[in-house]
Amino acid sequence: MATDLSVTFTGLRFENPFLLASAPPTESESNITRAFDAGWGGVVTKTIGLHPVTNVAGPKTKFLRATPDSSQLSMRKRPGTALHSSWNWELISDKTLDWWVPRLGRIKQAYPSRVLVTSIMAGSGSDSELKHWQTLARACQDEGADALELNLSCPHMDRPDMGSNIGKDPELVSVVTQAVKEVARVPVWAKLTPSTTDIVLEARGAFLGGADAVSSTNTFPSLPLIDPETLEFEMNVDGLVSSGGLGGPAILPQSIAKMSQLTKAFPDCAFSGIGGVAEFGHALNYFLLGCGTVQVCTAAMLDHAIGPNVVKQLVAGMRDTMERYGWSSLDEFRGLRRDRVVLHSQIRRPEGEAYRGGYDAEGYAGAEAATEPAPVTKG
Ligand SMILES: Cc1cc2nc3c(=O)[nH]c(=O)nc-3n(C[C@H](O)[C@H](O)[C@H](O)COP(=O)(O)O)c2cc1C
Repeated sequence: MATDLSVTFTGLRFENPFLLASAPPTESESNITRAFDAGWGGVVTKTIGLHPVTNVAGPKTKFLRATPDSSQLSMRKRPGTALHSSWNWELISDKTLDWWVPRLGRIKQAYPSRVLVTSIMAGSGSDSELKHWQTLARACQDEGADALELNLSCPHMDRPDMGSNIGKDPELVSVVTQAVKEVARVPVWAKLTPSTTDIVLEARGAFLGGADAVSSTNTFPSLPLIDPETLEFEMNVDGLVSSGGLGGPAILPQSIAKMSQLTKAFPDCAFSGIGGVAEFGHALNYFLLGCGTVQVCTAAMLDHAIGPNVVKQLVAGMRDTMERYGWSSLDEFRGLRRDRVVLHSQIRRPEGEAYRGGYDAEGYAGAEAATEPAPVTKG
């Protein structure tokens, strides 16, 4: 049987389940058309707002790299390093809706079979702010956008009614989603922040508001490291820094933990997995946990800005893996490992003589140390 990489997600057909996430790779018409030519099944545009934004002076994104055989972590570019993560404090698109509108139309006309998702963002502090979401939604869908992704997750917004400050409040998530759903004729995806205690609560808010899917995750709030030579943050403006977002390989295990919570809580809902994907083996985690699509940012930024080699590997890796296991479509393996994540108390404990308490593993002193009597404390 032929291997079919196409998927249907929130009612939309994708040639393959790989999308560029909302970020620099999708910030312009030329990037997006190059991305489609390179083979991405879809793109989520850089987040579009109603008002112009001004980014910080200096770089908006840098990459933290590890040196093998030492514990050095630094953003300094040097040979023989491995990528640890991206760090950014970039705001939403610095182009306004008016700039985007004709470009969205042109992209869709040129690539009718590719999926164009527009990411949008406004505030939530008043009725007029909620109307801004509706204005953005209408304008994008009128130009042919196939879906809308609500940015409820940008981690560096000072305004308390924007970005991840919405995403941290399940009621606001619901209110904003509902406002967009009132005018939307296309599917609505809610992109959530990982920086809450229980992402299931915010996802419930999104689904109660009518979301057709949840995308997870955005970057994790973090700081750049301080350089021991200069005592300055490796990224700063005039010596000052502010909380930004961590992406790339470092967040893959954390992001799949969030996704596992989501897909277990809502096994029948649609999820788009994001965070740390650079090759098919990474994407497979999200699919086996129940995702219907996967999005990529950091790895694509570092591969000719839009990831032509990354998408080739994702597509080839998916085809090879499906052939190896005899799967003919994503539906045959989506969610296969969702139920393997259980409560800690459900994990089997060893019995009898074989029990060495895990002390003969890397990072532990050994079984003898573990059997030393515990020190007696008085008090
Ligand atoms: C420089 C940069 C800019 C980003 N801008 C946006 C944005 O405008 N809207 C959004 O929803 N996410 C934005 N993101 C988050 C990404 O879409 C993605 O969720 C995150 O980087 C995790 O994926 P990754 O590990 O593949 O990078 C941005 C990420 C980076 C690195």
